[in-house]
Amino acid sequence: MEDLYSNPKLLAIDDEPENLDLIKHALCDSGLEVLTAENTAKGLELLRATRPRIVLLAMRMRGARGFENLESILGIDPGTEVILMTSHYTAEGAIEAVQKGACDFFSKPLDANQLRRRISQLLWEAEERRRTYRLDHELVHACQFEGIVARSPIMLDVFAKIRRVAPHFGTVLVTGATGTGKELVARALHRLSPASASPFVVCNCSAIVESLLESELFGHVKGAFTGATQEKLGVFEYANHGTVFLDEIGELPLTAQSKLLRVLQNHEIQRVGSPAPRIVDVRVIAATNRDLRSMVNEGTFRKDLYYRLAMIEVKLPGLAERREDLPLLERYFLDKFATEYKKPLSGMTRRAQTRLANYSWPGNIRELENVIGNACMMVDGPVIDVSDLPEEVRGQSGTVVGQDESLISLEELQKRHAKRVLERVGGNKSQAAEILGVSRATIYHLLAQTRPENGA
Ligand SMILES: Nc1ncnc2c1ncn2[C@@H]1O[C@H](COP(=O)(O)OP(=O)(O)OP(=O)(O)O)[C@@H](O)[C@H]1O
Ligand SMILES: [Mg+2]
Repeated sequence: MEDLYSNPKLLAIDDEPENLDLIKHALCDSGLEVLTAENTAKGLELLRATRPRIVLLAMRMRGARGFENLESILGIDPGTEVILMTSHYTAEGAIEAVQKGACDFFSKPLDANQLRRRISQLLWEAEERRRTYRLDHELVHACQFEGIVARSPIMLDVFAKIRRVAPHFGTVLVTGATGTGKELVARALHRLSPASASPFVVCNCSAIVESLLESELFGHVKGAFTGATQEKLGVFEYANHGTVFLDEIGELPLTAQSKLLRVLQNHEIQRVGSPAPRIVDVRVIAATNRDLRSMVNEGTFRKDLYYRLAMIEVKLPGLAERREDLPLLERYFLDKFATEYKKPLSGMTRRAQTRLANYSWPGNIRELENVIGNACMMVDGPVIDVSDLPEEVRGQSGTVVGQDESLISLEELQKRHAKRVLERVGGNKSQAAEILGVSRATIYHLLAQTRPENGA
């Protein structure tokens, strides 16, 4: 991959030789090797052979439609940046082009200065992306704490708390929405505790029918109830000297809650059917995605148990509250699944990364793991593209053009689009207003608030 990038190339495909000449001339000092093709077939052949970073593609050529060519190009190399060129510029066409994966839309005849500016901006962005990607690759190793990948300040606080608490805790409550890593945290706490050589036993409180829950937790003696044909060790005895992880503690019925409180206070359990108390030495980590405090107010969770558990609480933020971790987690899961599926995956396209960054991640890190896992399984080439992502992740993106626009508001996007249209029509506000379907006053209003764009 690096070899192909060390000598960056640009491929221009157009059946108008004068336009190809203009491009070659305009970009002779750009540091790019400029390749040209006068028809689609030759263009695609060159694309396969040389893997250019940027493709300038004429929309209308004899015998082919621009969007079909765009699709073919992205199908061959989803990592390349395609700029469409047309002599029939329309705002709708530009939006459609971007939606179909082009990174920009130029009107012909090309303006050499504008072309140079945009190309150098694209090269800069690509370099930045590669640099961040390489860094992320190294960072993934540096930013792992007991198998938990993060670098956001909010998660670094979580790491610090785990480190502080692990050597001493008797009980810890881990809270957070689904898929935020509660079980990972519980395992980290156990591994860093003095009990790490003893068992870590998981009990999912929501997965056991209520009538069997007590026997599951505390065990039973033979004949304690119908079906108790032999003695059974409960989770607490089984985990003796180690850690019990009570997952989904919010689902624990009230009767079991009072018995659990007794264990936490006296370190004593009673097997079902036996009056004899037994001493157990266990640490308890409870986890929930429910709001136990409001359950206490509703009367469905014991107040005394809540206070006992919540003395030490590790709160896990949702992925949306730690977006800084997203690129790192992407890289981490990509590497993980590339190894698992034995595929030579090298990365993800700008378009795909943008979609991931714009998505809200209601299922948090588990959802991200599934999305990347599926994409890694399905993808053919070395790069994951938008088409490898599920519908819901693809759907939430706006139209994205150029640098930083993945993170801007719709309003800002409108302003930038208005500015670009105006540039294309040589500053003629009436014409720009007509293309955009708004009044001249609106154009003035939009332009008055436009922030200067980087490099363009
Ligand atoms: N920071 C992280 N770094 C790496 N992997 C993570 C991270 N957070 C979560 N994961 C992974 O995401 C998946 C979900 O994590 P986990 O099971 O710990 O979440 P949970 O909070 O217990 O979810 P639920 O409430 O649905 O049970 C796991 O495969 C876990 O390995
Ligand atoms: Mg869990």
